[in-house]
Amino acid sequence: MRALNLGRSGVEVSSLCLGTANFGGKHDRETCFDLIDFFRANDGSFIDTANMYSHWHPGCVGGESESTIGQYIRDRGSRHELQIASKVGFPYPGCSGGLSAVEIELECEKSLRRLNTDYLDVYYSHCDDRTTPIEETMAAFEHLIQSGKVRAIGASNLVGWRITQANQFSELHGWHRYCAIQQRYTYLRPRPGAAFGEQVFLSEPMRDYSRTSSVTLLGYSILLGGAYQRAPAPPPPEFEGPDSVARMAALASVAHEMHATRNQVVIAWMRQSDPPILPIVATSNMAQLAENIGALELSLSEDQMRRLDTAGNPA
Ligand SMILES: NC(=O)c1ccc[n+]([C@@H]2O[C@H](COP(=O)([O-])OP(=O)(O)OC[C@H]3O[C@@H](n4cnc5c(N)ncnc54)[C@H](OP(=O)(O)O)[C@@H]3O)[C@@H](O)[C@H]2O)c1
Repeated sequence: MRALNLGRSGVEVSSLCLGTANFGGKHDRETCFDLIDFFRANDGSFIDTANMYSHWHPGCVGGESESTIGQYIRDRGSRHELQIASKVGFPYPGCSGGLSAVEIELECEKSLRRLNTDYLDVYYSHCDDRTTPIEETMAAFEHLIQSGKVRAIGASNLVGWRITQANQFSELHGWHRYCAIQQRYTYLRPRPGAAFGEQVFLSEPMRDYSRTSSVTLLGYSILLGGAYQRAPAPPPPEFEGPDSVARMAALASVAHEMHATRNQVVIAWMRQSDPPILPIVATSNMAQLAENIGALELSLSEDQMRRLDTAGNPA
């Protein structure tokens, strides 16, 4: 996997990121260790977690994903071969959430302890907090960077103007900016009016911002929980729009030409898009992970990219 720079931060990460929202919850420790081992054996090094993962699983309270990765780091002694991204902002048991200075400092300490490390490569705002002044949030992140606990910062689920505002504010003070933007993204477009709760789908203005502002875009929930492989079963209702049939047909046609799976074409399409979008892949088993990593071998032609991009557009 080729190494990529996150914005201008100097933090180099692998071209796929491993999602771990189910680590320590749905997936037991052995499965998680096997998945990380396999990811690393294929030159993967960038791992995505959050303080609140996987609190929604029965018997979990949050922190399970970080703790599982922390055990891996302790057992394998591999901290410096990995780039670990974690997040703060959503509430979970024992944490009221938000992006106040107190919350950011406190949750960062908890994440570092659980991860068995003294630094995070990337620390994201996991959601917006309109009750805390943006100045306070960005100052708290800057303090963590200056103290060596965080190397770079990112934002997830913030709408474009809030990210722009935060970055302009930081630039004014000579502070670090959000260099990684992690939003929901996939090949199928959300149907008009689809809502994702606190999750923000990557917008066209945000893509435009990234082209000119040296931020790296990352996509999550890119495989719609396996829905592409379940076709012709319909996609999730939020993605069953006026263009979904045409887009699924384009995906199937390119997959057929490339002797690849639809999942692989989605991943390749994201990586080759302008601007490129770094895929976060999450899997239950090694076969799925092997398939998703296999997407890195695909090189879509200009014609295939055009057909995928324009499928379902009004004539
Ligand atoms: N920033 C945020 O707010 C946010 C939100 C959500 C997620 N994330 C991050 O993004 C990661 C991924 O999120 P997600 O789980 O929603 O992603 P997803 O790509 O939509 O779904 C992953 C699931 O898809 C299925 N799958 C994956 N590869 C497959 C393959 N090759 N063939 C068939 N099925 C396949 C598996 O389902 P089965 O387990 O059913 O087999 C897997 O668990 C998370 O772990 C987390 O790190 C971030």
